[in-house]
Amino acid sequence: MPELAFRRLVLGVTGGVAAYKAAELARLLVRSGVEVRVVLTEAATHFLGAATFQAITGQPVYTDLWDTRSPQGMAHIELTRGADAVLVAPASADFMAKLAQGRADDLLSTLCLARDCPLLLAPAMNRQMWEHPATRRNVAQLVADGAVLLGPAVGEQACGESGYGRLLEPQQIVDGLDAHFRPKLLKDRRVLITAGPTYEAIDAVRGITNRSSGKMGYAVARAALEAGAQVTLVSGPTCLEPPPAAQVIPVVSAQQMLEAVESQVDAADIFIAVAAVADYYVLNPSEMKIKKDAHILTLELAPNPDILANVASRPQPPFCVGFAAESENLEEYAELKRRRKHLPLIVANDALEAIGTDEVALLLLDDDGQHRLPRADKLTQARRLIEHIARLYHGLFQ
Ligand code: CTP
Repeated sequence: MPELAFRRLVLGVTGGVAAYKAAELARLLVRSGVEVRVVLTEAATHFLGAATFQAITGQPVYTDLWDTRSPQGMAHIELTRGADAVLVAPASADFMAKLAQGRADDLLSTLCLARDCPLLLAPAMNRQMWEHPATRRNVAQLVADGAVLLGPAVGEQACGESGYGRLLEPQQIVDGLDAHFRPKLLKDRRVLITAGPTYEAIDAVRGITNRSSGKMGYAVARAALEAGAQVTLVSGPTCLEPPPAAQVIPVVSAQQMLEAVESQVDAADIFIAVAAVADYYVLNPSEMKIKKDAHILTLELAPNPDILANVASRPQPPFCVGFAAESENLEEYAELKRRRKHLPLIVANDALEAIGTDEVALLLLDDDGQHRLPRADKLTQARRLIEHIARLYHGLFQ
């Protein structure tokens, strides 16, 4: 469901090396159907020219408070009239300091002050600038004034240092903007999610795992964040980039996943167990690499704890959602699993179809019966699932 199509956005670009990413950002926004009006600060023009943005957006680009092209000659007010949001990306330390003080000495800062639509800021600066008490103060003030922060990310910076202050990637900024416009069905609810496979060591370099990619669990985490939840993602080994706003706890084995979940579950309102937890672990794994010889190697396997069943059987469990991947008798086996683990909701899918693919059909089973979610990409399914969870959760607890 595109939340961005037909939106009107003012994209402010301030001066900083990361400004080069703003051209790609503008391109992605236009491709999502957004009408983008770009405003450059004077400093930004040292990194990128107005012609670039004009070509990408097909709209006039503004840099000057005294621009007379707008109908009443008041670009600082007219540009945000009818806009759905102002997004400043990258937002420099200097520009945020100016905004925090409510100063208005150029076009972009003036229209940030003279607006009645949301303001989103994607900061980008050197890590020491980001960590400086003055910047911390300014950021806290801007958030208190209602600005929404997208990032920054942690990582390598243009100056060669590494830390917090990197601009989010353009697609992550588009995703953050998209999330901003989605209904906040789980506002401020705390959602705990397990995702990915677990890995049970056989020796120092080998182990037992499964083909779960983690894509469904990560999509559920993103959909819950979009719905306004605070998300903790306990993730087995995957190659995926987690959503920037999630608290991520990386784990390897089922035992570690259980410990991570137990450390978080008291604070959770909703627990969604998407992980494909290995059913068994290897008793006495070797600390060294096992050398091959001509003999038969016997591994002793012991059952892993059932994380979801443990959580669901607590005296006051959070709202628990399980997944059931079945290769036959989907509805019957999934419903048996739901009852055995005392779950208000289970999400069933075809095990052979779901592994490694990007599109799945899901069947939701709850006390009201069955609800089919016809085949779609995993993010779309995750959003539908979160809508369903929010309906049940609010029905039960409010
Ligand atoms: N689960 C869990 N901890 C485990 C095993 C499973 O939390 N040790 C959770 C999964 O995250 C999923 C659900 O339980 O939500 C799957 O149930 P399970 O009975 O494990 O399914 P299968 O492993 O597919 O069981 P079976 O082989 O009996 O079909």
